[in-house]
Amino acid sequence: MRHSAFASRRASERWKNGVRPLMVTGLRNPRRTGLPVGGRFRSGGLAQVSRSRAQDGTMNEIEKRLQEALDQARQALAGVTTAAQLEECRIRFMGRKGEITGLLKSMGSVPPEERPQVGRTANRVKNEIESAFAAAEAALARTDTTAVRLDVTLPGRQRRIGFSHPLARTMDDAVAIFRRMGFVVADGPDLETVYHNFDALNTPPEHPSRDVADTFYLADGRCLRTQTSPVQIRVMESQPPPVRIICPGRCYRRDTPDATHSMNFHQIEGLYVDRHVSLADLKGVLAEFARELLGPDVKIRFRPHFFPFTEPSIEYDFSCIICGDKGCGVCKHSGWLEISGAGMVDPAVFTAVGYDPETWTGYAFGMGIERIAMIRHAINDIRLLYENDVRFLAQF
Ligand code: PHE
Repeated sequence: MRHSAFASRRASERWKNGVRPLMVTGLRNPRRTGLPVGGRFRSGGLAQVSRSRAQDGTMNEIEKRLQEALDQARQALAGVTTAAQLEECRIRFMGRKGEITGLLKSMGSVPPEERPQVGRTANRVKNEIESAFAAAEAALARTDTTAVRLDVTLPGRQRRIGFSHPLARTMDDAVAIFRRMGFVVADGPDLETVYHNFDALNTPPEHPSRDVADTFYLADGRCLRTQTSPVQIRVMESQPPPVRIICPGRCYRRDTPDATHSMNFHQIEGLYVDRHVSLADLKGVLAEFARELLGPDVKIRFRPHFFPFTEPSIEYDFSCIICGDKGCGVCKHSGWLEISGAGMVDPAVFTAVGYDPETWTGYAFGMGIERIAMIRHAINDIRLLYENDVRFLAQF
């Protein structure tokens, strides 16, 4: 008989020997516990139901419970989302002490006349539970995100690699060029004393740049530096000549923002102090800088100007790299791009820092980094450099 396969051998042997085993298997071994074996059943569980079945002739209790267990297993399997949960289900229903395993084992306790019927049910349940587990396993293989699978045919994930802001890059490039020429980077505070930003730079109290309309002042009397030139003063105060420095950094002016003005911008300052320094040295350094930054054909020109801290003072222009000196909108059809100011250090500045103006000579220059970055990349509005719009920045 096929169903006998589901009864434990020992149980069926015992049955054959005329000893009726305890109907609920897995409880305890009746012999070892000394409980009454055979004859009268203990109360509870299958024993009791079996007795009622005998009374009213309804469906065998094992069949009912097999069906119930099958339904429960299906329900549990429906909620399975991980391999661990599937394994839990397997142990709960099909494990050595599992609910269904237990019921199948108890087949041995079924009276012989009921066995064919119960055996068929047991076989059906067993087949169904096996296919339910197989289906759950297949579904899990499709959806289990905890399982690590490697699809070597997938295209690689593209990484978005960042890059320097065009302003930072221009500053870095400028610093690198001057460092190759032997300049050393010096630093100073953004929050400056009025003395370093103006007085020591030979800028008198009535000078328009000191006006509250142009400069941000703090309640304590300090100001946000309007230029990088105060770093010249700080360096000369701190060391004897010769000096060969550049000072890159932020500056602040009380301007109304427009396409060419920003309240916060960047400059790089240069200062060279030694014996017998001339304007020709300055011109050579700036021309070399222009060629390295913008290309070998860039020319440079000086125009007379005025700054309180240089004498003589000049403004310098680079030939327009955008149109190749022919004239365009960027160079306002002049063929020249205005860069910034420079000149020979005024003797009053040397006196302010304690250098002897009879012994020492020097040149100083400043340039706006925004202006150079805009020329380099043909950017027509300074505000684009601060908006941090990636669609704009990704172009450089
Ligand atoms: N500090 C000046 C400015 O901001 C530029 C400059 C620097 C001029 C050094 C002469 C010497 O316009």
